[in-house]
Order: sequence, then structure tokens, then C-alpha cells
Amino acid sequence: MPAAGAVSPACAQYDRRVNPQWVRLLDALQMNVRYTHCEGVELVTDEGRRILDFLSGYCVHNAGHNHPYLIDAVKAELDRKGPGMLQSHVPELAGELAAALCARAGGRLEKVFFSSSGSEGVEAAIKFARAHTGRNGLLAAEHAFHGLTCGSLSLMNDSFWRDGFGPLLPGVEFVPFLDLPALEKKLSTRQFAAFFVEPIQAEGGIRMADAETLRQAQALCRQYGTLLVADEVQTGMYRTGPFLAAHHFGLDPDMVVLAKALSGGLIPVSALLMTEAIYRSVYSSLKRSIVHASTFSENSLSMRVGLATLEVLERDRLGARATEAGDRLRSRLREALAPYEMVKEVRGAGLLSGIEFVAPKKLTPRAAFEGFMAIHPGMFGQILVMRLFRDHGLLTQICGNNFLVLKAAPPLVVSDEQLDEFVRGLTAVVDVMHRSSGFWTEALGLARRVVNI
Ligand SMILES: Cc1ncc(COP(=O)(O)O)c(C=O)c1O
Repeated sequence: MPAAGAVSPACAQYDRRVNPQWVRLLDALQMNVRYTHCEGVELVTDEGRRILDFLSGYCVHNAGHNHPYLIDAVKAELDRKGPGMLQSHVPELAGELAAALCARAGGRLEKVFFSSSGSEGVEAAIKFARAHTGRNGLLAAEHAFHGLTCGSLSLMNDSFWRDGFGPLLPGVEFVPFLDLPALEKKLSTRQFAAFFVEPIQAEGGIRMADAETLRQAQALCRQYGTLLVADEVQTGMYRTGPFLAAHHFGLDPDMVVLAKALSGGLIPVSALLMTEAIYRSVYSSLKRSIVHASTFSENSLSMRVGLATLEVLERDRLGARATEAGDRLRSRLREALAPYEMVKEVRGAGLLSGIEFVAPKKLTPRAAFEGFMAIHPGMFGQILVMRLFRDHGLLTQICGNNFLVLKAAPPLVVSDEQLDEFVRGLTAVVDVMHRSSGFWTEALGLARRVVNI
């Protein structure tokens, strides 16, 4: 039976066969619309509504939706009728893309393992780190997001993601994000193969570290023989300005995971960049030439789209644009949101920004706010997301591991006018939140709908 909440006949099969709970959630949030055309930053629905995408599929669409150059590159690759997934040949495009990625990443990164998702990239890093160091332990930062396959999930401490899926990998431990004394205490046991860290924690709440702390964390890893793995699945590919967020901080990681935007938003692909020495620990002999591999790794369509995406991002100077547009967005947001007590901070780098909220001080809204937190800690943020979408045509989300932080991450092709539209829309919603009891009544209605389904 299709779920009762499903409204659109077009999504009935999805509702029946794939994920009815997702349909119910979208229904409850009044976000279950059909998109018929997506281009650049704009999404158009079958009812002719225009939505501005300030989420980018969680940092997938850096080049903008359906970039014509990327579409042409994919079409040309298909027309070539080459060995797309032959797996009995040398895929030359993989060599080309690996060289392009290593040249941009710099440092000591000389080799690449390709796969199809960020989680698979992290999985590979776990295996390569263990093979290289001969250690089993893995260290990660609290509230990180590294992916939902068993190994990647083992590197995430939030119970929301973990519950019901254990036992996960043994030997994994966590430290508060860039707490150097805690990190050193763990590292000094010399049990850890790798320390996994997002240079800017995305789902953790756009948490920023200062360069000095990150560099000290790197030095500690070196001192105790633990590899530093930078998870740049969201932050890489010019999202925060430079090619890697690690470049903001002068880091020289042992491995880097890229995914999401490398796909051009069209063909899934991820890349694990590593040093020559790490690579040799895995592919150490002819016999071990395919000891870590995946069917879809190095397929020609994803390699082609990765190359074309780099071309577009660089030809159109979208890294520089991310820096300039992000600075503009944050300064406008800070100015517009300054009068509102529930806005704690606007932060970020390039076009990865977070707006953090806090409980109101006044008694009545505070009671409502705390009530929602008790029903579900994500409830307050979802009202924000819903109102932005419904009332202002703005698509965004709260962070997966920090529900009080709203994320703003539009495609890097976003215009100044579109940034200003976001600032106006968000300011209007924040204003309603502070001035009108309707915001809280509506929130209560949503709470009832969500709790009842
Ligand atoms: C920082 C980070 N690492 C890894 C992943 C996992 O990537 P995927 O969903 O492609 O498996 C994500 C996904 O959101 C992520 O944000």
C-alpha cells in the first residue's frame, strides 16, 4: 500500500517500492514538488515555481545544475562507443584525471584510487591506512560525517546514524573536533593507523578550525606515525575557494577523499588521493595488482565528467567566485540578521556557510522552542527549511549532525542577485520567527504531523 501521505501519483511507485518514509517526510515539510527543469542555481517545478538551490545536493552541484559543457562531454563520451567498463584494459582517462587531481592537490599526493561514492573513498582510505601502518586503530572527530557504509559509519559517533547497525568496526575512537590534547593522548598510544578529519566540518555544523590548530594536529599525527586523511568530500573541488579546504590551512595530508562535485552532478565518482608510499603498501606486487578494486571504478563516463568538471570550474574561475560570493553572502547575512537574538553566528568559507541559531530568551517562545527540541531536536530547523522553501522558494537544509545550523551552499555559479534573494528570504523568515506566534503555532502543527506518521 502506498503511504497515506503520498500526494503525487507520479511518485506512487517510488512511495511503494523505494522509500515511503522519505515521501512522507517531504509531504510533511510541504517540499514534495516535482522538478521538471534544473539549470545553474534554478530549479523549476511542474507548477512553474522557481526555486533557488542553496543546498547543491550537499555540495554536488558546484558547477551548477546540468552545465551544458558537462552534458556535451558526457554525450561525446557516449558517442565514442569506447570501452566504458571493460575492466580488461588500461583506462587512459583515469590516468588523465588522476594526474589532473594530483597536480591540483599538490603536496605529496601522487596516486589515486577511484570509486563511485564518498563512502567508498573513505572505506578505501581505511584499508590503505591499515595496510600501510600495520595498525588497526582508527581515529575520527566527534560529529564528523564520513558516509554510511559500515566502515565509514564506524568513523561517525552520532547515535542517530549508528543505532541498529552494529557492531561496527572495532578499534575506532573519537576526539572532540581538533582538541589537540585529546588528540595527542590518543595518538601517543601509537595504535592508530589514521586520523580522519574534515578540515571544515560540514554536517557537524560548518565548524571551522584555525590553521594553526590543524597544522599542529598534522604534526602530532606525523610524530606518532598516524596518517592524516582529509575528508574533502564536501569541501573539495573549489567549494570553499581553493581546490581543497586543506589549502586554506597549509595542510599536507597523507590522503584526501574527493567525491560529490567531482561528478559534475551527473555521473557518480570519488577519488582517494594518496602518497606513493601508501599506494605501494597495497599494490605491492603483480599478484596484488587488483587487491582493492571496484567494478565501476575508472569507468570512462565518470572519468570524463571529472575532467570536464575541472575544466568548467577553472575556466569560469569558480574557486575565486566562491571566495568572493561567500564573503559577500556572509557579510550581508551578518548585517541583516544582527538585530535577531536567535541568530548566534554566521560563519563559513567560500560558498559553504552556516547560520547558527540559539534558543530565544523571552519566556513564551523559549518554552515553544524547548518543546520542539523535546519532540525532535531537528524540528526547529525543519520549520526554517520549510518556510524558506514554501514562502521564499529557497532550498536548503540544516546540518545532519548539528540541527541548529542552517546550511547555505549554492552552486558556485550563483549570482549576486541570487545571493541577495537568499538574504532577503532568510531575514524574512527569521523576522517572523521573532515577531509572530504563527511561526510557533505552525511548528506545532508540523510536529504533530511528523510525530503521527
Ligand atoms: C564529508 C563527507 N564525507 C563522506 C560522505 C559520504 O559520501 P557519499 O554519500 O557519496 O557516500 C559525505 C556525504 O555527505 C560527506 O559529507
